This record gives sequence, C-alpha cells and structure tokens, in this order.
Amino acid sequence: RKIFYYNSVTSTNIIAKELAENGLEEGTVIIAEEQTLGKGRMGRKWSTPNGEAIAMTIILRPEISPFMAPSITPILAVSAVEALRKLTGFDVKIKWPNDIVLDSKKLCGILTEMNSDMDMINYIIVGMGLNVNQENFDDEIKEVAVSLKSFSGINFKRKIIIAEILNEFEKNYEIFKVKGISEFLDKLKEYSVLLGKRVKVISINNSFEGEAIDIDKDGSLIVKKDNGEITKVLSGDVSV
Ligand code: BTN
Repeated sequence: RKIFYYNSVTSTNIIAKELAENGLEEGTVIIAEEQTLGKGRMGRKWSTPNGEAIAMTIILRPEISPFMAPSITPILAVSAVEALRKLTGFDVKIKWPNDIVLDSKKLCGILTEMNSDMDMINYIIVGMGLNVNQENFDDEIKEVAVSLKSFSGINFKRKIIIAEILNEFEKNYEIFKVKGISEFLDKLKEYSVLLGKRVKVISINNSFEGEAIDIDKDGSLIVKKDNGEITKVLSGDVSV
C-alpha cells in the first residue's frame, strides 16, 4: 500500500483527488501533519494543527454502484471506533452519519467524496480528521470538540492509531464489498449515540424534530417525528 506523507498541505482530500485523477491505485493513503485549508462537511472548515491531530485520506476504487458509495463513511466510522476502543478503552461512539464522539463532544469527522460516470465509480476519497493530542480548542469550538488528550490527559502515538484504523478499515472494506452495509448494522446500532434520543434533523430541504428510533438496512437513520410520522433520513445534520 502506498502512503504519501506531507508536513503541510491545503487538505489531504484535495491532494487525494489530484492523485486519484492521476491514476493512483486503490488503497493509496495521504497523511499530513498540518492542513491549512481542511474541509468539513457542508462547506465548513476543519482544523488540523501541526503535529497534534490525524488528517488522512484514503483513495478507493470499488466496483460497486455509486448509490452505495455513501456507505463508505459508516464503514470507516465503525473501523475507527473499534480501533480506538481497542487502543484507548474509551467509550467512543458514532453520531450518525459521520462523526465519532467522546464525552458527547466531537472527536473525529469523516468526509467522503465521490467521482463517478453514469453507473461507474472512478474513485472515492474518504478523509478522516481525528483530534489526538490537542490540549485545547479555539473558543468557538471548545464546547463541542474533544481530543483523546483533552479527555484523558494522556499523549497518544498517532502512528499506532493510524495503523490500527487502517487495518480495521481494510478488513471491513473487504467484507463491505462482498456483503454490503447490512453486515455492519448491528455494530452501527450498538455504537450509535443517537438511537433512543430526541434529535433535531437539518437536511437540505427541511428540518424537524423527533426521536431517532432505528438504523435502516441501507444505513439511513429512521426518525419518528412528533406527529407520529416515521421518516428515513438519508443525509443531513443531526443534533441531540
Ligand atoms: C466533518 O465532520 O465535517 C468532516 C471533517 C473531515 C476532516 C478530514 S481531515 C482529513 C480530510 N481532509 C480534509 O480537508 N477533510 C478531511
């Protein structure tokens, strides 16, 4: 597996896209010590201060339908949760669809982007930002962000965490290609921080409140609205 390692980049997702356009193969990993233009979901920024966090992006070229591509996010989330639980023992959880949380605050975010033609995927790039050794956060995010160190006072070796996450992901990705997301439903439910909770859903065309009651077999979130109506949420922002 090829690993590209940089001191400072704009965004590992941007570099990954360039490398993927140039034909770099599946499994290529891009890692950076610092990002100057880190991207979050929905046009938000993502901060990767020098040497303290993990910013990495994986290039994938699965022969699956483009409709299945969004499932890569929960597959990486499950893999990271398992790696982190094993290495730290902390009670990390998944906040559907793409966050990993610790102590009700955001520890890690995932940004999956796809390039496809008709019904063929050219490439998927899946980027992960994980807060590891930051001691504190900027005022505007300090109520909602956490790192392994700010939670525990312990310094962690990023290399070991990266290796464990990649190993778990490689294993789960092979299973996913053969069996699909349904194979991971039990784990997604077990690790979910939202199930059974009241949630506020904000998606592109509407927003509403209700109770998160289940994760569907395609990986979407099932919410029971206050008027009793049951709805499937395919993507969006969900807060507790
Ligand atoms: C989110 O929670 O909004 C997603 C955050 C994703 C951040 C990672 S860091 C590595 C990769 N490069 C980026 O620019 N973004 C992703």
